[in-house]
Amino acid sequence: MQLRAALVFVLALGISGMAHAAGEIIIKFSHVVAPDTPKGQAAERFKQVAEKLTKGKVRVEIYPNSQLYKDREEIEALQSGAVQMLAPSLSKFGPMGVPEFQLFDLPFLFPNQEVLHRVMDGEVGKKLFAKLDSKGVTGLAFWDNGFKQMSSNKPMHSVSDLNGLKMRIQSSKVLSAQMKALGANPQVMAFSEVYTALQQGVVDGTENPVSNFYTQKMHEVQKHMTISNHGYLGYAVIVNKAFWDGLPADVRTALNQAMKEASNYESFIAQKDNDAALAKVIAAKTTTVYYLTPAERAEWQKTLLPLQKEFESVIGADLIKIANATAAEVAKEQAGAAKPPATLKPSTKK
Ligand code: SIN
Repeated sequence: MQLRAALVFVLALGISGMAHAAGEIIIKFSHVVAPDTPKGQAAERFKQVAEKLTKGKVRVEIYPNSQLYKDREEIEALQSGAVQMLAPSLSKFGPMGVPEFQLFDLPFLFPNQEVLHRVMDGEVGKKLFAKLDSKGVTGLAFWDNGFKQMSSNKPMHSVSDLNGLKMRIQSSKVLSAQMKALGANPQVMAFSEVYTALQQGVVDGTENPVSNFYTQKMHEVQKHMTISNHGYLGYAVIVNKAFWDGLPADVRTALNQAMKEASNYESFIAQKDNDAALAKVIAAKTTTVYYLTPAERAEWQKTLLPLQKEFESVIGADLIKIANATAAEVAKEQAGAAKPPATLKPSTKK
């Protein structure tokens, strides 16, 4: 095991060294989604800005749609130095040995983007990135996709409608527990295999933000989608640590700047892309889109709430507590903002 780790490290150094050898630094950025998704477009924006700011010292090669590697393989490829940059979904960090990232998989924990970003961009995000160091990985940024919706070939209104459905999930213990709590049968599967699995009936349904659903043409093979917003799907942009630490300081500064610009762009387009994708799914008329009623949503929520307790020892009770406290803080601020300012209230003084 130790010998294997040493070999992987030597290989990583060797490959990252090779990437510099010809004078041009090459960053292979592999990902599993389509180029016209929030992640795909942000990767492209990073390439443009990085190449411009480094004045030709860096070339970024983007490999979308699992062209090079599938979900799990791409993480191994990053650790071995075969690619330098990835943006896996936060649900895929558990198998890397960092189960705390599953915080973001807990259903209904994050009611909106504001809460998510306060948690992600604050101490929790820093703490999670610090855990990557020992895995030979450096975290650069968090990117959004959006809230997930449920799809299958049968309508899903109440929780009992999911009973017995085979649902594809990402490799996350929380997502597995979520599907089981809903009465479904979770099946872990690489993203690149989902369309065919749905088409051939290997699984009955899945969950994803609509931008992923539409760009993978899942609407062709799923008759129903429920707008449940039950969970979140976002990304951590990560690099091979040996490669990153070995870069000249000026190049690293420029790449950090490029990442900042790409991340701003990403957060600007993510919601718009998901809204546009939903409009296209509706227009395609192959998938009936259903919105949970408040009562149905409350039933889903109540069914899934025990997962927070169940995963305290895996994720950390402190992280779950911070997320809940942040949600309460944001709700209070929003309720306050909705009230008329005190100065506009009729005065009671004579
Ligand atoms: C991704 O957005 O990177 C893929 C998500 C999935 O595997 O469902």
